[in-house]
Amino acid sequence: MKLVKARIISNSEILPNIYLMRVKAAEIAASACPGQYVMVRCGAGQDMPLRRPLGIHRIYKDGIALLFTVVGRGTAWLSQRKTGDIVDIFGPLGKGFAIHPSSRNLLLVAGGVGVAPLVALAEKATAEGLSVRLLIGEKSSSKIYPERLLPSGIKPVITTEDGSLGQKGMITDILTKFIPEADRIFACGPLPMYKAMAKMSRKFGNKPVYVLLETVMGCGVGACLSCSIETRRGRKLVCKDGPVFELSDIIWDKMVAPASGGRY
Ligand SMILES: Cc1cc2nc3c(=O)[nH]c(=O)nc-3n(C[C@H](O)[C@H](O)[C@H](O)COP(=O)(O)OP(=O)(O)OC[C@H]3O[C@@H](n4cnc5c(N)ncnc54)[C@H](O)[C@@H]3O)c2cc1C
Ligand code: FES
Repeated sequence: MKLVKARIISNSEILPNIYLMRVKAAEIAASACPGQYVMVRCGAGQDMPLRRPLGIHRIYKDGIALLFTVVGRGTAWLSQRKTGDIVDIFGPLGKGFAIHPSSRNLLLVAGGVGVAPLVALAEKATAEGLSVRLLIGEKSSSKIYPERLLPSGIKPVITTEDGSLGQKGMITDILTKFIPEADRIFACGPLPMYKAMAKMSRKFGNKPVYVLLETVMGCGVGACLSCSIETRRGRKLVCKDGPVFELSDIIWDKMVAPASGGRY
């Protein structure tokens, strides 16, 4: 992992309140893999002492891209950065998505901005000749990740809660239909989506299902224990043991979403 003063190549609001930021950070890109994340310093000086974790959305030769929703002070500050500005980034961190050598057909399930790390995975998998099916669920069409930004050849299957694009409903309503064609399933989305997937776990049979967890993180390096969770293999740290875990390993009744309101 590297601490990089990364120059911003571009930063734009690609969807309402959702920003795509590309930074020059070849040192991080060189060892990054899909599902890993970086810790980004936000604010000037000691204004916001704790870095914010953001998933690696794209991996290029000369850097990485991040896709983030503005939810609080840190992400609001990041959204205001301009081309040429410098951001202080630490990473890559954590254990990402592992593509098993025997895998041929991947099913990727994105809830909202959870599409962020799955785009990097789709890109890597298609480059390796694997077949990728991407499902994206959102509240409404105005927030659906633009198809033109997806790796070429990926045509997403979409659901929206209001029926404004794709099938009306939740992504978990249509998921079952796509399980037979996949040998591995990867998901990133909000806690209710994971809980719904855990409830339907018998439908996955013995196919491994991997989920990327977004807990509150204070340090990203295993020092503060703020990201500790209970799993069937004992207590684990999302920052170091994850953020990717097997769906069946997590004790979902004990998982809680980050409390509302900024805390640091
Ligand atoms: C491994 C990992 C990868 C992530 N990848 C992405 C990503 O690719 N894109 C993206 O938009 N967000 C991602 N997040 C969530 C992101 O870290 C938070 O949205 C961010 O830290 C909020 O910072 P803030 O200062 O803007 O908000 P704050 O002012 O700190 O908080 C505002 C709101 O966001 C919630 N929040 C704070 N921290 C987190 C957190 N870690 N996870 C979820 N909600 C949080 C708070 O509870 C509160 O409701 C990821 C989180 C983790 C742990
Ligand atoms: S974020 Fe500090 S221990 Fe995981």
